Amino acid sequence: NKGAAEFLPDRLDLDSLRHAAAGCEGCGLYRNATQTVFGEGPKEARFMLVGEVPGDQEDRQGHPFVGPAGRLLDKGLEEAGIERDDVYVTNAVKHFSFTLRGKRRIHQKPTAAEITACHPWLDAELSVVRPEVIVVLGATAARSLLGREFRVTRQRGEPVPLGDALAVATVHPSAVLRAPDRDLAYKGFLADLRVAATLA
Ligand code: URA
Ligand code: SF4
Repeated sequence: NKGAAEFLPDRLDLDSLRHAAAGCEGCGLYRNATQTVFGEGPKEARFMLVGEVPGDQEDRQGHPFVGPAGRLLDKGLEEAGIERDDVYVTNAVKHFSFTLRGKRRIHQKPTAAEITACHPWLDAELSVVRPEVIVVLGATAARSLLGREFRVTRQRGEPVPLGDALAVATVHPSAVLRAPDRDLAYKGFLADLRVAATLA
């Protein structure tokens, strides 16, 4: 795990970053994944949403949040009144992490070392987009952005300063989909997105 830093381009703009990230070998995840799934959205976006790691669909299609979690996220954004063209969407870790069960690729949580290795890409995205509001989706993104001590369960929905932005953490949309009481979990998720919506 040498980390992504040595793969960063000299020019920090979104096209250069995306191009350089396609060749990243900063940790071992590039070996088994199909492709780097870089963040997407306008450079002028006031909101940056940070997920965990691309899933199976994202890995195949090359775009963040295009699977089931992405559909739930889109619904939440719409209901919270956050416009898609005001949003840049990315992940804490940019290559799909999985274990094989037969032919099925089962999502695996990225390790602390992988989160650290991939952090330079997220940092670069933040420095280019300079969002007003960062929505932190789940514990992995929280670990990458807010540190090891941050607890989503206790601190979700509370704006916290992060550089020049305000960050709001919430649960990961995949956790909403897996929750025993999905309606209740969705309500909490939406309430946190509504807090984020008021901040920009
Ligand atoms: N889950 C994530 O954290 N990110 C994606 O892009 C898709 C699913
Ligand atoms: Fe590089 Fe991140 Fe992919 Fe690891 S997960 S190879 S650090 S882009």
